[in-house]
Amino acid sequence: MSADAKHSSPSRSSRSERGSGLIETVVLLGSTVLLVWGGLYVGSYSGRFDASEFSEVPHGRPTKPVAVSADPNAAVLKAGLKGYNNTCVACHQADGNGNPSLNIPPLAGSDWVLADAPNRIVRIVLHGLGGPVKVKDTVWSGGAMNPWLKTADNPAGLTPDEIAATLSYVRNSWGNKASLVSTEQVAAILKETEKRSDPWTEQELLKVPLAAGAPAMAALTPDQLKLALKALPADALEALLKDVKK
Ligand code: HEC
Repeated sequence: MSADAKHSSPSRSSRSERGSGLIETVVLLGSTVLLVWGGLYVGSYSGRFDASEFSEVPHGRPTKPVAVSADPNAAVLKAGLKGYNNTCVACHQADGNGNPSLNIPPLAGSDWVLADAPNRIVRIVLHGLGGPVKVKDTVWSGGAMNPWLKTADNPAGLTPDEIAATLSYVRNSWGNKASLVSTEQVAAILKETEKRSDPWTEQELLKVPLAAGAPAMAALTPDQLKLALKALPADALEALLKDVKK
Protein backbone atom coordinates (compact mmCIF):
# COMPACT_ATOMS: atom_id res chain seq x y z
CA MET A 1 0.00 0.00 0.00
CA SER A 2 2.77 2.26 0.99
CA ALA A 3 4.66 0.99 -2.04
CA ASP A 4 1.61 1.67 -4.14
CA ALA A 5 1.39 5.07 -2.75
CA LYS A 6 5.05 5.59 -3.44
CA HIS A 7 4.51 4.46 -7.00
CA SER A 8 1.34 6.28 -7.65
CA SER A 9 2.28 9.60 -6.22
CA PRO A 10 4.87 10.58 -8.89
CA SER A 11 2.49 9.67 -11.70
CA ARG A 12 -0.34 11.69 -10.10
CA SER A 13 1.91 14.66 -9.57
CA SER A 14 3.16 14.54 -13.16
CA ARG A 15 -0.44 14.43 -14.35
CA SER A 16 -1.28 17.46 -12.24
CA GLU A 17 1.87 19.22 -13.52
CA ARG A 18 0.78 18.52 -17.04
CA GLY A 19 -2.71 19.78 -16.17
CA SER A 20 -1.47 23.02 -14.62
CA GLY A 21 0.78 23.59 -17.67
CA LEU A 22 -2.28 23.39 -19.89
CA ILE A 23 -4.21 25.85 -17.71
CA GLU A 24 -1.24 28.24 -17.74
CA THR A 25 -1.08 28.09 -21.53
CA VAL A 26 -4.82 28.71 -21.85
CA VAL A 27 -4.65 31.62 -19.38
CA LEU A 28 -1.59 33.07 -21.15
CA LEU A 29 -3.15 32.73 -24.59
CA GLY A 30 -6.44 34.13 -23.32
CA SER A 31 -4.86 37.15 -21.73
CA THR A 32 -2.71 37.75 -24.83
CA VAL A 33 -5.82 37.71 -27.02
CA LEU A 34 -7.56 40.06 -24.55
CA LEU A 35 -4.58 42.42 -24.47
CA VAL A 36 -4.33 42.59 -28.27
CA TRP A 37 -8.10 43.06 -28.60
CA GLY A 38 -8.05 45.73 -25.88
CA GLY A 39 -5.20 47.53 -27.61
CA LEU A 40 -6.99 47.45 -30.96
CA TYR A 41 -10.22 48.62 -29.30
CA VAL A 42 -8.56 51.56 -27.56
CA GLY A 43 -6.69 52.35 -30.76
CA SER A 44 -9.88 52.48 -32.79
CA TYR A 45 -12.27 54.12 -30.38
CA SER A 46 -10.21 56.40 -28.13
CA GLY A 47 -10.39 59.34 -30.49
CA ARG A 48 -6.68 59.81 -29.73
CA PHE A 49 -7.79 60.88 -26.25
CA ASP A 50 -8.93 64.18 -27.69
CA ALA A 51 -10.81 66.21 -25.07
CA SER A 52 -13.71 66.85 -27.43
CA GLU A 53 -14.31 63.09 -27.70
CA PHE A 54 -15.11 62.99 -24.02
CA SER A 55 -17.10 66.20 -23.80
CA GLU A 56 -20.76 66.18 -22.84
CA VAL A 57 -21.70 67.10 -26.39
CA PRO A 58 -21.57 63.83 -28.28
CA HIS A 59 -19.21 63.77 -31.21
CA GLY A 60 -21.02 64.26 -34.48
CA ARG A 61 -24.06 66.10 -33.17
CA PRO A 62 -24.69 68.89 -35.67
CA THR A 63 -23.66 72.29 -34.29
CA LYS A 64 -25.90 75.29 -34.74
CA PRO A 65 -24.97 77.20 -37.92
CA VAL A 66 -23.20 80.48 -37.11
CA ALA A 67 -25.09 83.43 -38.55
CA VAL A 68 -22.92 85.06 -41.25
CA SER A 69 -23.84 88.70 -41.70
CA ALA A 70 -23.76 90.00 -45.26
CA ASP A 71 -20.38 91.63 -45.99
CA PRO A 72 -20.96 95.40 -46.02
CA ASN A 73 -18.02 95.77 -48.40
CA ALA A 74 -19.53 93.39 -50.93
CA ALA A 75 -21.90 96.03 -52.32
CA VAL A 76 -19.05 98.55 -52.77
CA LEU A 77 -16.84 95.98 -54.49
CA LYS A 78 -19.70 94.96 -56.78
CA ALA A 79 -20.28 98.59 -57.80
CA GLY A 80 -16.51 98.88 -58.25
CA LEU A 81 -16.40 95.92 -60.61
CA LYS A 82 -19.07 97.63 -62.72
CA GLY A 83 -17.07 100.86 -62.84
CA TYR A 84 -13.92 98.93 -63.69
CA ASN A 85 -15.61 97.03 -66.51
CA ASN A 86 -17.06 100.25 -67.93
CA THR A 87 -13.93 102.39 -67.84
CA CYS A 88 -10.66 100.57 -67.05
CA VAL A 89 -10.87 97.00 -68.30
CA ALA A 90 -10.16 97.78 -71.96
CA CYS A 91 -6.65 98.91 -71.03
CA HIS A 92 -5.77 97.33 -67.67
CA GLN A 93 -7.54 94.02 -68.53
CA ALA A 94 -9.87 91.79 -66.49
CA ASP A 95 -6.94 90.19 -64.64
CA GLY A 96 -5.42 93.59 -63.74
CA ASN A 97 -2.19 92.74 -65.53
CA GLY A 98 -2.33 95.57 -68.03
CA ASN A 99 -1.22 95.23 -71.63
CA PRO A 100 2.57 95.42 -72.06
CA SER A 101 2.37 95.48 -75.85
CA LEU A 102 0.46 98.79 -75.59
CA ASN A 103 2.59 100.20 -72.73
CA ILE A 104 -0.24 99.77 -70.23
CA PRO A 105 1.08 98.93 -66.75
CA PRO A 106 -0.45 96.38 -64.37
CA LEU A 107 -2.70 97.28 -61.42
CA ALA A 108 -2.26 93.83 -59.82
CA GLY A 109 0.63 94.11 -57.36
CA SER A 110 1.34 97.77 -58.25
CA ASP A 111 2.82 99.87 -55.40
CA TRP A 112 0.77 102.84 -56.62
CA VAL A 113 -2.43 100.87 -56.14
CA LEU A 114 -1.36 99.24 -52.84
CA ALA A 115 -0.07 102.43 -51.15
CA ASP A 116 -1.34 102.97 -47.57
CA ALA A 117 -3.48 105.90 -48.65
CA PRO A 118 -5.17 106.27 -52.05
CA ASN A 119 -4.13 109.97 -52.42
CA ARG A 120 -2.07 109.35 -55.54
CA ILE A 121 -4.28 106.89 -57.46
CA VAL A 122 -7.34 109.10 -56.90
CA ARG A 123 -5.40 111.92 -58.59
CA ILE A 124 -4.44 109.59 -61.48
CA VAL A 125 -8.09 108.75 -62.14
CA LEU A 126 -9.28 112.36 -61.70
CA HIS A 127 -6.76 114.00 -64.05
CA GLY A 128 -4.87 111.24 -65.88
CA LEU A 129 -1.15 110.38 -65.98
CA GLY A 130 1.59 111.03 -68.53
CA GLY A 131 5.33 110.48 -68.93
CA PRO A 132 7.41 107.56 -67.68
CA VAL A 133 6.15 105.78 -64.55
CA LYS A 134 7.78 102.97 -62.58
CA VAL A 135 5.46 100.08 -61.78
CA LYS A 136 6.68 96.77 -60.33
CA ASP A 137 10.36 97.56 -61.07
CA THR A 138 9.69 98.37 -64.73
CA VAL A 139 9.64 101.89 -66.16
CA TRP A 140 6.62 102.25 -68.42
CA SER A 141 6.79 104.99 -71.00
CA GLY A 142 5.20 105.82 -74.28
CA GLY A 143 1.66 105.50 -72.92
CA ALA A 144 -0.60 108.03 -71.24
CA MET A 145 -3.82 107.72 -69.30
CA ASN A 146 -6.66 110.15 -69.84
CA PRO A 147 -8.76 111.58 -66.98
CA TRP A 148 -11.79 109.61 -65.84
CA LEU A 149 -13.79 112.16 -63.85
CA LYS A 150 -17.29 112.65 -65.24
CA THR A 151 -17.62 116.22 -66.53
CA ALA A 152 -19.55 118.00 -69.27
CA ASP A 153 -16.56 117.34 -71.56
CA ASN A 154 -16.19 113.75 -70.40
CA PRO A 155 -19.71 112.36 -69.95
CA ALA A 156 -18.48 108.76 -70.11
CA GLY A 157 -16.44 109.34 -66.95
CA LEU A 158 -17.10 108.33 -63.34
CA THR A 159 -18.70 110.32 -60.50
CA PRO A 160 -16.70 110.67 -57.23
CA ASP A 161 -18.88 107.89 -55.80
CA GLU A 162 -18.06 105.60 -58.72
CA ILE A 163 -14.34 106.47 -58.58
CA ALA A 164 -14.29 105.50 -54.88
CA ALA A 165 -15.98 102.14 -55.60
CA THR A 166 -13.82 101.42 -58.66
CA LEU A 167 -10.58 102.13 -56.80
CA SER A 168 -11.83 100.07 -53.81
CA TYR A 169 -12.32 97.20 -56.26
CA VAL A 170 -8.85 97.72 -57.80
CA ARG A 171 -7.25 97.77 -54.32
CA ASN A 172 -8.96 94.49 -53.40
CA SER A 173 -8.76 92.31 -56.51
CA TRP A 174 -6.26 89.93 -58.14
CA GLY A 175 -4.48 89.39 -54.80
CA ASN A 176 -4.37 93.13 -53.98
CA LYS A 177 -5.31 93.94 -50.37
CA ALA A 178 -5.66 97.53 -49.20
CA SER A 179 -8.20 99.80 -47.51
CA LEU A 180 -11.37 100.80 -49.31
CA VAL A 181 -11.57 104.29 -50.82
CA SER A 182 -14.43 106.48 -49.59
CA THR A 183 -16.42 109.03 -51.56
CA GLU A 184 -15.32 111.62 -48.94
CA GLN A 185 -11.65 110.94 -49.75
CA VAL A 186 -12.29 111.41 -53.47
CA ALA A 187 -14.36 114.57 -52.88
CA ALA A 188 -11.64 116.07 -50.64
CA ILE A 189 -8.92 115.45 -53.26
CA LEU A 190 -11.17 116.82 -55.99
CA LYS A 191 -11.50 120.03 -53.95
CA GLU A 192 -7.72 120.23 -53.26
CA THR A 193 -6.99 119.91 -56.99
CA GLU A 194 -9.92 121.83 -58.47
CA LYS A 195 -7.65 124.21 -60.40
CA ARG A 196 -5.83 121.37 -62.10
CA SER A 197 -6.51 120.19 -65.64
CA ASP A 198 -3.17 118.70 -66.77
CA PRO A 199 -2.45 115.01 -66.31
CA TRP A 200 -0.07 114.16 -63.43
CA THR A 201 3.54 113.11 -63.84
CA GLU A 202 5.27 110.54 -61.65
CA GLN A 203 7.55 113.26 -60.20
CA GLU A 204 4.57 115.32 -59.07
CA LEU A 205 2.73 112.36 -57.62
CA LEU A 206 5.71 111.21 -55.57
CA LYS A 207 5.54 114.54 -53.71
CA VAL A 208 1.91 113.95 -52.74
CA PRO A 209 1.91 112.72 -49.12
CA LEU A 210 0.49 109.26 -48.56
CA ALA A 211 -0.32 109.73 -44.89
CA ALA A 212 -3.61 111.58 -44.90
CA GLY A 213 -3.26 115.04 -43.32
CA ALA A 214 0.53 114.99 -42.74
CA PRO A 215 2.27 117.21 -45.28
CA ALA A 216 5.26 115.58 -46.97
CA MET A 217 8.59 117.02 -45.71
CA ALA A 218 9.72 117.55 -49.30
CA ALA A 219 6.72 119.73 -50.02
CA LEU A 220 7.36 122.10 -47.06
CA THR A 221 8.90 125.56 -47.49
CA PRO A 222 11.85 126.35 -45.13
CA ASP A 223 9.52 128.52 -43.03
CA GLN A 224 6.93 125.75 -42.74
CA LEU A 225 9.71 123.31 -41.80
CA LYS A 226 10.93 125.69 -39.04
CA LEU A 227 7.40 125.93 -37.66
CA ALA A 228 6.95 122.15 -37.76
CA LEU A 229 10.24 121.65 -35.88
CA LYS A 230 9.32 124.29 -33.27
CA ALA A 231 6.04 122.47 -32.65
CA LEU A 232 7.93 119.32 -31.60
CA PRO A 233 8.28 118.63 -27.82
CA ALA A 234 11.82 119.46 -26.54
CA ASP A 235 12.83 115.82 -25.92
CA ALA A 236 11.67 114.72 -29.38
CA LEU A 237 13.66 117.59 -30.95
CA GLU A 238 16.76 116.64 -28.94
CA ALA A 239 16.45 112.98 -30.04
CA LEU A 240 16.04 114.10 -33.66
CA LEU A 241 19.15 116.36 -33.51
CA LYS A 242 21.22 113.56 -31.97
CA ASP A 243 20.09 111.28 -34.80
CA VAL A 244 21.01 113.84 -37.46
CA LYS A 245 24.52 114.38 -35.95
CA LYS A 246 25.31 110.62 -36.06
C1 HEC B 1 -6.95 104.07 -72.55
C2 HEC B 1 -6.22 103.18 -71.66
C3 HEC B 1 -6.43 103.31 -70.16
C4 HEC B 1 -7.61 103.33 -69.47
C5 HEC B 1 -9.02 103.23 -70.02
C6 HEC B 1 -7.26 103.41 -68.06
N1 HEC B 1 -5.90 103.46 -67.93
FE1 HEC B 1 -4.87 103.53 -66.20
N2 HEC B 1 -3.12 103.73 -67.19
C7 HEC B 1 -3.01 103.69 -68.58
C8 HEC B 1 -1.63 103.95 -68.95
C9 HEC B 1 -1.07 103.97 -70.35
C10 HEC B 1 -0.94 104.18 -67.74
C11 HEC B 1 0.54 104.57 -67.62
C12 HEC B 1 0.67 106.06 -67.92
C13 HEC B 1 2.10 106.51 -68.13
O1 HEC B 1 2.85 105.75 -68.71
O2 HEC B 1 2.41 107.62 -67.67
C14 HEC B 1 -1.91 104.01 -66.67
C15 HEC B 1 -1.60 104.08 -65.33
C16 HEC B 1 -2.48 103.81 -64.31
C17 HEC B 1 -2.13 103.75 -62.90
C18 HEC B 1 -0.75 103.97 -62.28
C19 HEC B 1 0.24 102.91 -62.66
C20 HEC B 1 -0.11 101.50 -62.18
O3 HEC B 1 -0.08 100.60 -63.03
O4 HEC B 1 -0.38 101.29 -60.99
C21 HEC B 1 -3.29 103.47 -62.22
C22 HEC B 1 -3.43 103.29 -60.72
C23 HEC B 1 -4.35 103.36 -63.20
N3 HEC B 1 -3.83 103.56 -64.44
C24 HEC B 1 -5.67 103.09 -62.88
C25 HEC B 1 -6.70 103.13 -63.82
C26 HEC B 1 -8.11 103.01 -63.46
C27 HEC B 1 -8.65 102.78 -62.06
C28 HEC B 1 -8.82 103.12 -64.63
C29 HEC B 1 -10.30 103.14 -64.78
C30 HEC B 1 -11.00 104.18 -64.07
C31 HEC B 1 -7.85 103.29 -65.70
N4 HEC B 1 -6.58 103.30 -65.17
C32 HEC B 1 -8.18 103.42 -67.03
C33 HEC B 1 -4.01 103.45 -69.49
C34 HEC B 1 -5.37 103.41 -69.17
